[in-house]
Amino acid sequence: MLIDTHAHLMFKEFENDLEDVLSKAKEAGVEKIINIGCDVKSSQAAVKMADEYENLYATLGLHPYDAALANEELMDEWRKLILKNKKIVAIGECGLDYFKADVPKDVQKSAFRLQIALAESAGVPLIVHCRDAYDDCLEILDEKFVWDDKNIGIVLHCYSGNLSFAEKLWKRGVLTSFTGIVTYPNAKDVQEVAKKAPMDLFMVETDCPYLAPQIYRGNRNEPAYVFEVARKISELKNISLEEVIEISVKNSLAFFGV
Ligand code: NI
Repeated sequence: MLIDTHAHLMFKEFENDLEDVLSKAKEAGVEKIINIGCDVKSSQAAVKMADEYENLYATLGLHPYDAALANEELMDEWRKLILKNKKIVAIGECGLDYFKADVPKDVQKSAFRLQIALAESAGVPLIVHCRDAYDDCLEILDEKFVWDDKNIGIVLHCYSGNLSFAEKLWKRGVLTSFTGIVTYPNAKDVQEVAKKAPMDLFMVETDCPYLAPQIYRGNRNEPAYVFEVARKISELKNISLEEVIEISVKNSLAFFGV
């Protein structure tokens, strides 16, 4: 069995064949799927789907693109939701994106800080999106957390940075999670990171509908394909696929508490 720790099944790409996608995932051995919210609407949809399907879990988050919508009121609302619904298992994806987002940096930072505070106060893990904003991202995490204490779990999802930044994360106990990017022939940096990732600090995900693994590249991605990510990591680490599966499942269960 495997867990897809980052999917967006509420996106329109799945509206016509969700049932098929879910049964294909189950047949492939993907037993649990964490469905990630990235704005108010998709967060609500993730919760609704988690209520409907036993093997789906939900997160609440504002992606940097929607950072302007973050405020104390929404955080309070979400805090209450988390406390009464066990299937809401994390906050995020949230973070910083200086590559594509046209939201000003200070707005992104403030939304990120609000969501970190929410995760901490609700006692749930945090899923971080970070693109071309590595130093600022780390600075914000560092101002919030004392790393030798036991913090909430933090993962940098869809890791696409270099090894030296990954090492800074691992030193702090932050996990790195890998998508289909690791299967792309030109993704040498990410492959190096996956190869070196400590056994207790990595997870696998699809980020579907995006980032289909190399053999499906160009198509819509889906949870069943998360095995390709695990397969590539087993190659890079030179260990068996079974071992990668066992370890990443163990890490995912511990991280999300599912
Ligand atoms: Ni995502």
